[in-house]
Amino acid sequence: MTAQILDGKAIAADVREQVQIQVAQRVADGQRPAGLVVILVGENPASQVYVRNKQMACEKVGFHSELLRLPASTSQEELLTLIDEFNARAEIDGILVQLPLPEQIDEETVTERISPTKDVDGFHPYNIGRLALRMPLLRPCTPKGVMTMLARTGVDLVGRDAVIIGQSNIVGRPMFLELLAARCTPMVCHSRTRDLADKIRRADVVVAAVGVPRFVQGDWIKPGAIVIDVGINRLEDGSLCGDVDYDAARETAGWITPVPGGVGPMTVATLLENTLQAAELHAG
Ligand code: GUN
Repeated sequence: MTAQILDGKAIAADVREQVQIQVAQRVADGQRPAGLVVILVGENPASQVYVRNKQMACEKVGFHSELLRLPASTSQEELLTLIDEFNARAEIDGILVQLPLPEQIDEETVTERISPTKDVDGFHPYNIGRLALRMPLLRPCTPKGVMTMLARTGVDLVGRDAVIIGQSNIVGRPMFLELLAARCTPMVCHSRTRDLADKIRRADVVVAAVGVPRFVQGDWIKPGAIVIDVGINRLEDGSLCGDVDYDAARETAGWITPVPGGVGPMTVATLLENTLQAAELHAG
């Protein structure tokens, strides 16, 4: 059996089109388009690419979009003051501070300063808490985008065993909450987990977010499993690969996401959805 491909590029294009239609409807109704500010501190090369993609996507759907590039020497107080200004501005619905931040700035302090209704990343303790309590408001983009992809398989997730590899605040932990809310039986594995391969072999859904190229071997995959690869690793030859050995895993899996063109485009498309949702919260 060869896996069916979960085409993130195509699904993300559908999501963006839906957002674009709703933005046009808002404007036709005399409302403002949604507005997003993206703040980049320093010159991390990967962050520069991500931030540019996010801003271009905003412009394409008709959002009001601002990009703030700050020097790596920016102090925490300067950044917090800027966040306070954007929290107060009515035409800004979403504030995204690209991570990682330079070492003099504490990420938790910055995340908590963003107004929870403008937290389009869904990283604020308020939004994570709401997700944990099954009353989600703004949901973290990558795990929410993965749920959108899982819905496209048509596979009923209820009661399925899921293994998430990686316990980060951005992916692993909220992914656990999303899958639990969808009535899967999720497990979060990490660097201290014992018998990882055995656990993965029992999983109907595997979400890999480890950041190690081709970490998940093909013979760890249960026949027919859904394999979601969140990893984006750059190899020495400049090419990109995921956390899953794709060529081997696709021989056994039922569904699999490619890298690139899988989860990556879904994160950006979901950010647009969240920004529109924030605009509706602010209007309502
Ligand atoms: N760095 C890596 N992924 C993300 C993300 O989804 N949001 C932000 N703000 N920073 C990131």
